[in-house]
Amino acid sequence: METNSNWQISEVQRKLLGSLFSVIEDNDVKNVFDIGSGRTSIQYLTDRYKNLVITGIVFPGDARKIDPIKECVTNTNYEIIEQDIMHFDENQEIDIVLAHLFLGEAEQFAENKFPKILEKLFSLKTKYIVMVNLERDNINQDLLLAEINKRGKIIKSERVVSESGDVCLGMTIKLT
Ligand SMILES: C[S@@+](CC[C@H](N)C(=O)[O-])C[C@H]1O[C@@H](n2cnc3c(N)ncnc32)[C@H](O)[C@@H]1O
Repeated sequence: METNSNWQISEVQRKLLGSLFSVIEDNDVKNVFDIGSGRTSIQYLTDRYKNLVITGIVFPGDARKIDPIKECVTNTNYEIIEQDIMHFDENQEIDIVLAHLFLGEAEQFAENKFPKILEKLFSLKTKYIVMVNLERDNINQDLLLAEINKRGKIIKSERVVSESGDVCLGMTIKLT
């Protein structure tokens, strides 16, 4: 598949992710999982961690996300795995999980329910979760904060408006 050289990562997302990742101690990062992958998150991560192979997880058959990654991301240091996160191996040791606009689609596939997806995300053996949600997705903040407080703490948060006018709420969570 030919790459679409006209596409570029949104400047707002690049800066937002840059700010959220800036508080991560990343001199010893061995693996990064992009849970709920897409071209923006893969482009950002493959630029930031040039010496790693980034693993992107998409729901099986979600060509809406897989094709643009293949067409638009110019870096090659990534692999895409098609897997329902509900089946992800909880023993896999991870340094950083990025969940970029993932929770807003949590209930779109396989009749998954938001509380279960959230619980699964926070059961992963990761040191950090970097998360970005859209305000209009109306994520259940009470449930989200309860999960965060059980497992760790927010070390950075950001609120930005995207080029299309969406309010993006970002946070970096350090797990204990
Ligand atoms: C809005 S997209 C994420 C956008 C992406 N991070 C980007 O930068 O373009 C939501 C993603 O979550 C994935 N997803 C939703 N439910 C999932 C599940 N249960 N397991 C794995 N991936 C899931 C979808 O396949 C899609 O890749």
